This record gives sequence, structure tokens and C-alpha cells, in this order.
Amino acid sequence: MDFFLDSAEPEEIYKLNEFGVIDGVTTNPSLIYQSKISFRELIIKICKIVNGPVSVEVASNSHEEMIEEGLELARIANNIVVKLPITWDGIKACKTLSGKKIPVNLTLCFSSTQAILAAKAGATYVSPFIGRLDDSNLDGIQLIRDIKTIYANYGFKTRILAASIRTKNHITQSAVAGADIATIPPKLFYTLPNHHLTDKGLQIFNSDWEKSGQRIL
Ligand code: G3P
Repeated sequence: MDFFLDSAEPEEIYKLNEFGVIDGVTTNPSLIYQSKISFRELIIKICKIVNGPVSVEVASNSHEEMIEEGLELARIANNIVVKLPITWDGIKACKTLSGKKIPVNLTLCFSSTQAILAAKAGATYVSPFIGRLDDSNLDGIQLIRDIKTIYANYGFKTRILAASIRTKNHITQSAVAGADIATIPPKLFYTLPNHHLTDKGLQIFNSDWEKSGQRIL
């Protein structure tokens, strides 16, 4: 499973990237809005920090302007992925951009029919928002399972990018369900290795090693 960071904060991305387990970044207009850095400078910064794909969303809602913005975004860096909403305009723009070999992440996915359209439109990624489904008392993980089954049934190559992740369980269940990627907010990312039994076991190992009087170096 690939781990992407769901963030538009370069310092945060840099710090977490140092752990060597980040495979890409996803941003969205709300995350960009929270940043104090000008848009173009921010995206260039982020694309330089990670080698992997960096998803950046268009601002327009008409397919003509989506295509124009997508082409402009793709010119910023060679690891840009153009993020488009799963609307008919987004589907149409995805067909055009993916036809020009520009990778597209079709986002705001909440149903399997949307995911089928994403695959048929040639999207490189589809982003089912599992947290927001759960927030509405729907089953986000079941959507991942259904998309995985449908994509396998028809040999669709679009990668399933589990998004809107709120908990470690979302990551685990998405992995069990076969999502290709999880995009994780920094605050949750920091907690991934934490487990009280690991802390307790390490404390005992450290104490016994000290008592052994042995040295490795
Ligand atoms: O960036 C896409 C997605 O991960 C946003 O999730 O629901 O936390 O805004 P959310």
C-alpha cells in the first residue's frame, strides 16, 4: 500500500518525508486555503520535497477551463497529478487530459458508479472519501471493497486512493479491502507506529540490556 500525505504544509511534509515512507502528497482547495504561501510557490515547494505524485485540484467547474487549468498545473512540475471532481465536466476534462498522458486524480468520489466513470475516463487515481461517508452514517470501507471488486471484474487500471481518512482503522480496513493508496493527514501520520505494548516491551528490553552490562560497540 502506498502512503500519501494529505497536506499543503511544506514544513510538515518535509519533516514526515524524512521517515522515508511517504510515496506522494494530495492537496485540495481547503488545504491550500489554510496555507499562507502563494499558490504557485507552494506547489513548486511541495513538488520539490517529494519525488512521488502530488495531486493539485483545479478551481474551475467547466470542462473547458478545467482542461486549461490542468495543462497549466502539469507544466509546474513533472510529478503533478491534476485533481478533478467527479462531475460530467470533470469526467470530460479527465478524458482529454489523460489522453494527453497527464495523470488525473478524480476526487470527491462517494459511489461505485462514480468510480466506474473514473476508470472509464482514464483516471490514474480515484479518491473515495471514506471519512465523509462515515460522517453521514454510510459505510466508507464498503465502498472501497465494492470498487476493488468492480475494478477487478473488468480489469480497470485506475488506482484506488482511500481519502478522507480519520483513523488508523480506516487505513487498516482500506488495506484489507485492497485500496492501492491511503492519503493520511499529518496529525494521524505521526501516530502510525505508536502502540502501548511496543513502548512497554522496549522499556523492559532497555532495562534488561542495561542490567546485562553488555555492549555492542
Ligand atoms: O484531500 C482529500 C481528502 O482526504 C479530504 O478529506 O474529509 O478530511 O476533508 P477530509
